[in-house]
Amino acid sequence: MSPNPAILDVDPGHDDAVALMMACGHPDLDLLAVTTVAGNVSLEKTTRNALRILSLIGHTRVPVAAGAAKPLQRALRTAEDIHGESGLDGLEIPETTFAPDERGAVALIADTLRASPEPVTLIPVGPLTNIALFLREHPELKEKVSHVSLMGGSIGLGNTTPAAEFNIYVDPEAAREVFASGLSITMCGLDVTHQAGAGPEERERLRSIGSAGTVTAGFLDFFAATYERVFGFDAPPLHDPVAVAAVLEPRLLTTRPMRVDIECESELTRGETVCDYHGVTGKPSNAEVGVGLDREGFFELLYDALDNL
Ligand code: RIB
Ligand code: CA
Repeated sequence: MSPNPAILDVDPGHDDAVALMMACGHPDLDLLAVTTVAGNVSLEKTTRNALRILSLIGHTRVPVAAGAAKPLQRALRTAEDIHGESGLDGLEIPETTFAPDERGAVALIADTLRASPEPVTLIPVGPLTNIALFLREHPELKEKVSHVSLMGGSIGLGNTTPAAEFNIYVDPEAAREVFASGLSITMCGLDVTHQAGAGPEERERLRSIGSAGTVTAGFLDFFAATYERVFGFDAPPLHDPVAVAAVLEPRLLTTRPMRVDIECESELTRGETVCDYHGVTGKPSNAEVGVGLDREGFFELLYDALDNL
């Protein structure tokens, strides 16, 4: 089977960093481009971090372009409390060895889709601002998007407010436009990513997998400490790698077709992904929503991918 062409849209962030390494390490994914968005930290920092990760693992031929510095309408909300001031605190890694692509995120996505002989999978794992802007500016290229595997949302509780998961909370208007786009979407929400917690056992196994595994374990040790402090558990969820795994091995994710609407008006529940689990609205489904994860299979996939770096 030829590798799946894909674009990762990221806001590194520790789990984004692991998603980038997983995407680069697995032979069944052809990472054509990386775009960055403001989210966990500012755009300047998420772009610096994406470049540093790719430099660290020697994947400097992947173009990286910076996108939106703020959500479509709202002020930016960042997450230094989880990821630290740099967005990748906890492990010193060298500065980047290559520069960002001057075209910017939307133009890089458009050019990449135009140049690809086959449709491309989009894997957004931060706020959906870049994806919404791309769809606004290039509706004619929707046919070159084969699928969207996104990390965001939740059928149940949020992690940023009681109702909202961070990526959707930061830019609910962008999420509303993406879920209304008609594109084929897999929503990897907290219901499945919280099943991918990297506890001490998983982190020890990672340390046995060469340099990429050691780097990943180092990132996760910091991530674990902040998750312990903020949420009270020491197995930080590998949110973003789940969206990559859903592309590499879809069978790892159990999904259910649902109508997903995004709350944008209420300040109390802004950013909630209102998932019609029982089909009571009668509206057609617009996403395959993750409801279960093969945890063991996920971690074996991650270990295999990192072992290739
Ligand atoms: O809620 C978790 C999501 O928000 C992850 O993508 C994490 O990196 C942050 O962006
Ligand atoms: Ca992210």
